[in-house]
Amino acid sequence: MTRLLQILTIFTVIIALASPVVAASSRKGKKVFKKSCKTCHTRKGEGGKLSPLQKTQAQWRIYFKKNQHKEKPEVWEGMSKKDQKNLLKFFLDFALDSDQPETCG
Ligand code: HEC
Repeated sequence: MTRLLQILTIFTVIIALASPVVAASSRKGKKVFKKSCKTCHTRKGEGGKLSPLQKTQAQWRIYFKKNQHKEKPEVWEGMSKKDQKNLLKFFLDFALDSDQPETCG
């Protein structure tokens, strides 16, 4: 019985430690956006101004899934899956039809 309890405790700790890593973070996504997208996406930049407000959540999902930045696919090179998830979370959290639309500089 104690052994079973020990195992259960270990599992609980592992799950508790792992979950924040698994959950996407829009705060981290914003950092990815600044680092990987803002190089071109400024008002005067090559990509033009870009903000999550430009599309609805559904449109962003489609954009990230289907289009995947066809204009310049190399933007994804070297970006981890986790960063991509965080980035999408950032766009969804601040999309036009989100609870907290925000312009992002
Ligand atoms: C190397 C320069 C460059 C980088 C880096 C870049 N983009 Fe772009 N992006 C462009 C260009 C060029 C276009 C096409 C602009 C146009 O058609 O007017 C574009 C277009 C887009 C569009 C389409 C805009 C629209 O109105 O539909 C989105 C969305 C977009 N980029 C998102 C991103 C995201 C997200 C990142 C960061 C992961 C990123 N871009 C990084 C150059 C870049």
